Amino acid sequence: MRRLVFLLCTGVTCCIAAGSAPRIAEAALPGGDATVAELLEGGQERVPAPKLQVKFNLRSSQDAEEDGCTLTIGQHKRLEDCKFNVTAKTFFIIHGWTMSGMFETWLDSLVSALQEREKDANVIVVDWLSLAHQLYTDAVNNTQIVGKSIARLLDWLQENPLFQLKNVHLIGYSLGAHVAGFAGNHVHGTIGRITGLDPAGPMFEGVDPSKRLSPDDANFVDVLHTYTRETLGVSIGIQMPVGHVDIYPNGGDFQPGCGLSDVLGAIAYGTIGEVVKCEHERSVYLFVDSLVNQDKQSFAFQCTDSSRFKKGICLSCRKNRCNGIGYNARKTRNKRNSKMYLKTRADMPFKVYHYQMKMHVFSYKSLGEADPTFSVTLHGTNGDSEPLSLEMLDQIGLNATNTFLVYTEEDMGELLKIKLTWEGTSQSWYDLWKELKSYWYRPVKSSKELHIRRIRVKSGETQQRFAFCVEDSQLTSISPGKELWFVKCTEEWQKRPVSNLL
Ligand SMILES: *[C@@H]1O[C@H](CO)[C@@H](O)[C@H](O)[C@H]1NC(C)=O
Ligand SMILES: *[C@@H]1O[C@H](CO)[C@@H](O)[C@H](O)[C@H]1NC(C)=O
Ligand SMILES: *[C@@H]1O[C@H](CO)[C@@H](O)[C@H](O)[C@H]1NC(C)=O
Repeated sequence: MRRLVFLLCTGVTCCIAAGSAPRIAEAALPGGDATVAELLEGGQERVPAPKLQVKFNLRSSQDAEEDGCTLTIGQHKRLEDCKFNVTAKTFFIIHGWTMSGMFETWLDSLVSALQEREKDANVIVVDWLSLAHQLYTDAVNNTQIVGKSIARLLDWLQENPLFQLKNVHLIGYSLGAHVAGFAGNHVHGTIGRITGLDPAGPMFEGVDPSKRLSPDDANFVDVLHTYTRETLGVSIGIQMPVGHVDIYPNGGDFQPGCGLSDVLGAIAYGTIGEVVKCEHERSVYLFVDSLVNQDKQSFAFQCTDSSRFKKGICLSCRKNRCNGIGYNARKTRNKRNSKMYLKTRADMPFKVYHYQMKMHVFSYKSLGEADPTFSVTLHGTNGDSEPLSLEMLDQIGLNATNTFLVYTEEDMGELLKIKLTWEGTSQSWYDLWKELKSYWYRPVKSSKELHIRRIRVKSGETQQRFAFCVEDSQLTSISPGKELWFVKCTEEWQKRPVSNLL
């Protein structure tokens, strides 16, 4: 049991359990009142929980700062007092496991974003802090109880025929996502929608659908996975798809702007808690972003896995292969469990602009160990991009078409020109010496040179395709430190037989 707790507490507490400096523990417990000993000592010193109960706080726009108005099953007058609108949409926000025993700051951001977007809606915060402020394993056990109690409230509300389950949207973060699943499972009828914000992984990964959030729990279940990186064999966020639509921003395993990507480095610097919190909570802020920045909606693209997405293979919107994310995600007629991917910025608004670049790379000479490092600079009607490096996941395909994914933080507008640069070779003396030596022995053959005549570009956001041809059709060669310019192919270029183009 101790061992299980130890493993389950990876991320936030693994470093503590591993016996690192106490200041790391402090950092990992923002404002926390539970001591590390209490959390790790198992049965002996459990956090005392005098009132184990679930509270439903209706937050009205007027008192965003206050606790809200508590709804109680059976008390019809409370609904009036709290100004509950039976015909409006009703959101339930469900928090997760807590080490501090207090609401985290994301909660108020989500409440106000929902109130801003849906003015008439009832926004209810499900307060199960006393049941969540436990050993992780006990909190997991309590998710069933909390889910059932939400289901009971909904069944009571349904006694009024004007109240309809299809207007209900449960939004659960971490363990709260599974609470939402249990609520959907136990209620009479079908809830409209459940959004899982980085549903908890430990004790839920791979289990039976009835024991975790699953597509059966609501008419539409959409999920954002933001922290699915594995540490000691466990991932804080669930890795498997658990909804109708499962979105993995930035592959779901690394979020930009969350500090050190290197977990060991984070442990060494005592910031592991912050990195975990930032990546896990990113799911909430992506949802908040989707509510408030309607003019900057992000899109996700269906793909079988993250590496294919990173290669730029999946940027299609045909047959519902792309979807909005967060609040803007829509139920499609696709089969369940469709995995979707996108890149994001490091903060709000998170939207980026995705492009697929396809280029046929010709090699007439032996390249030796040439692993070219390419970057492209996009010139559009709205401005120019930074040089964007073309991520090489495998070796470059010679005499073959290579596909890359690039993305920009700004909208470039209509693309006019593309500059392709082969970054100069490494500057180390050793490499220089190697090159000199090879020059000595094999003067001609070793010159690195590739030919590229055309770049085909597809925009993920607009779904438009363009062909860019090398500016001077006589000069198609590129070598380290050199660049090639591409412009929109002219009619003449387009008309040439394919064999000439390739
Ligand atoms: C209740 O919600 C409905 C539907 O959104 C809206 O038309 C109506 O104005 C609301 N009533 C009140 C009193 O706010
Ligand atoms: C879960 O909680 C119930 C009571 O609600 C208890 O009877 C049961 O033993 C608990 N299970 C575990 C694994 O702790
Ligand atoms: C690519 O094709 C050219 C001409 O067809 C050929 O000379 C060259 O060896 C090929 N390069 C590789 C790496 O296969």
